[in-house]
Amino acid sequence: MMPEDQARALRSKVSVRQTKTIAIVSGKGGVGKTNVAVNLGVALSLQAKKVLIIDLDIGMANVGVLLGKSSKLSLMDCVKERSPLSQAVVEATPELHFIHGGSGFTELMDLTDHDVEFMMSEFRFFYEYDFVLLDLGAGATHQTFDFISSADEAWLVVTPEPTSIMDGYAFVKLAHHHANELPVAVIVNRATNGQEALETFDRLQQVSQNFLGKSLRFVGFLPDDPTVMKAVKAQRPFYLFDRTSDVSWRLDHITTSLTGLQVQEQKFLDRLLNRLKKRHNRVR
Ligand SMILES: Nc1ncnc2c1ncn2[C@@H]1O[C@H](COP(=O)(O)OP(=O)(O)OP(=O)(O)O)[C@@H](O)[C@H]1O
Ligand SMILES: [Mg+2]
Repeated sequence: MMPEDQARALRSKVSVRQTKTIAIVSGKGGVGKTNVAVNLGVALSLQAKKVLIIDLDIGMANVGVLLGKSSKLSLMDCVKERSPLSQAVVEATPELHFIHGGSGFTELMDLTDHDVEFMMSEFRFFYEYDFVLLDLGAGATHQTFDFISSADEAWLVVTPEPTSIMDGYAFVKLAHHHANELPVAVIVNRATNGQEALETFDRLQQVSQNFLGKSLRFVGFLPDDPTVMKAVKAQRPFYLFDRTSDVSWRLDHITTSLTGLQVQEQKFLDRLLNRLKKRHNRVR
């Protein structure tokens, strides 16, 4: 059976949910992607949604650090050893799971056809989740872009600093040229207030529209709040560390807006498989 057919057949066997896949990205590093991914995951899981966070940051297993849990096996280890991918899944809570991509994960070009086939057939548990959140490292490489552009939406995290807006625009440009159909939404993090957040978004929106003709969606903003750093030090998500903090309260607004997110017709795994195969064929 062809891998696409396999993916389709497997999907029809599991209880299919409308899995929404969101790639949390940024141009510049250290703007708050991992905190957004983890706390959004926590907030959604508390609304009885099943969430999987995939940590695709090759540098460190940051998601696990923030959740105070560690993963022994990575997704890449499982692919190479032909172990069930579920072995790499860490259950932070019954509703919130995470998986670390592994240090070799950006070396997707090294994957053989068999590796890709194995990975895709093993990925079937994907569709058991309501939300799959991809936490990426700063900037996008061609390899991580396969994942980003297969998501239903990219959430670009920017801060009000001009350098962050510039680097954010660099991402939008990349997305425009390499994945024109990928909707890009923006979260302004570390804003002083709502007005500053909107001004930041407007600046990015204007350059995107003027130079690329691309419109962005404003997801919301998170204030600069000392709770975040305190929570990071305590290795707890800020949303659990202090539910009454400004930043948690703002996150609630963002979580609520998620219910309207459209899932694209073609599913994440099919899109990813197509992209990986294309890359593979190009390399050979
Ligand atoms: N809203 C906020 N208020 C205050 N501090 C924040 C906020 N968001 C992030 N920070 C600070 O920025 C640090 C970096 O955040 P985080 O690790 O989530 O960024 P990142 O984009 O994932 O970084 P990297 O690009 O290295 O993966 C946090 O440890 C925290 O100290
Ligand atoms: Mg990070």
